[in-house]
Amino acid sequence: MKRDLISINDLSREEIEGFFDIADCLKRDNARFGNILSGKSLALIFQKPSNRTRVSFEVGMYQLGGHVVYLGPGEINLGVRESIKDVAKTLSRYVNGIVLRTFAHKNVIELAGYADVPVINGLSDFSHPCQGLADIYTVKEKLGKTQGITFAYVGDGNNVCNSLLFACSKSGIHINVATPKGHEPDKGVLAAARRAAKLARCKVNLFNDPFSAVKGADVIYTDVWASMGQEKEAIKRRKIFKKFQLNKKLASLANKNVLIMHCLPAHRGEEITDDVIDGPNSVVFDQAENRLHVQKAILIKLLKGDK
Ligand code: CP
Ligand code: NVA
Repeated sequence: MKRDLISINDLSREEIEGFFDIADCLKRDNARFGNILSGKSLALIFQKPSNRTRVSFEVGMYQLGGHVVYLGPGEINLGVRESIKDVAKTLSRYVNGIVLRTFAHKNVIELAGYADVPVINGLSDFSHPCQGLADIYTVKEKLGKTQGITFAYVGDGNNVCNSLLFACSKSGIHINVATPKGHEPDKGVLAAARRAAKLARCKVNLFNDPFSAVKGADVIYTDVWASMGQEKEAIKRRKIFKKFQLNKKLASLANKNVLIMHCLPAHRGEEITDDVIDGPNSVVFDQAENRLHVQKAILIKLLKGDK
């Protein structure tokens, strides 16, 4: 039975820890699993731009002995030149796994439904599971644990926020989410996160005031105010989110050694200031590095068992 990675909500805490254990081995010793994916190919269908996701998957496959086929916007033209079903069926005859970066989340679900090989969500408008997993791996690496720590997400209740809600609530991390009114995360995600949090003995709290959300936080995380596909709203959003900027004043209300996190790309001077993202508490490039280790772990788990 093939396994996909569509949403962190589909994973158990044990599965998440399992990815982290493999990532730990790989981070300590790059050659630990040798060319374990030798002879395997991975297709990357990207309908949006990317630096980290594309490069970390390409380099990750290379380091594991495998091979990547990059299919940028306009090449496959998913659902336009060819139906998602036909793309899924065709690629399944060539490759051992598919990463899809797309707009509508239902595209990922549809592709996974028709593909005979594992499908990994490389970001949709709804979620960004590879990012969320690498982020919690980074928190665990820096703080030595996840249970009981307080994580504040400040900004837009977007795809990254949704994945962090799933990842934190499954990992025993209290998560405070502060957004302007009307930009709260998806209601269904909040409900699922609250259910998971109950099991993992942690809390999910919503705020419309960033200052209350970061009080006592061990981590402050932010992301862009206008995600890919929302460029036309950027000017309007700059006004709406102004109070939610992660600057020195906001960071000073959190714990002294607070970790400053951002998935990148950052719009410096908008959602985060230079002094904070470049400051001593920032771990943004560790997060970016950990995308590589965690995704290699995901690739090993998902691709190793198939044809
Ligand atoms: N964080 C992240 O996914 O970066 P890219 O959009 O550059 O891949
Ligand atoms: N929320 C951002 C994340 C980019 C990695 C976006 O979707 O553009």
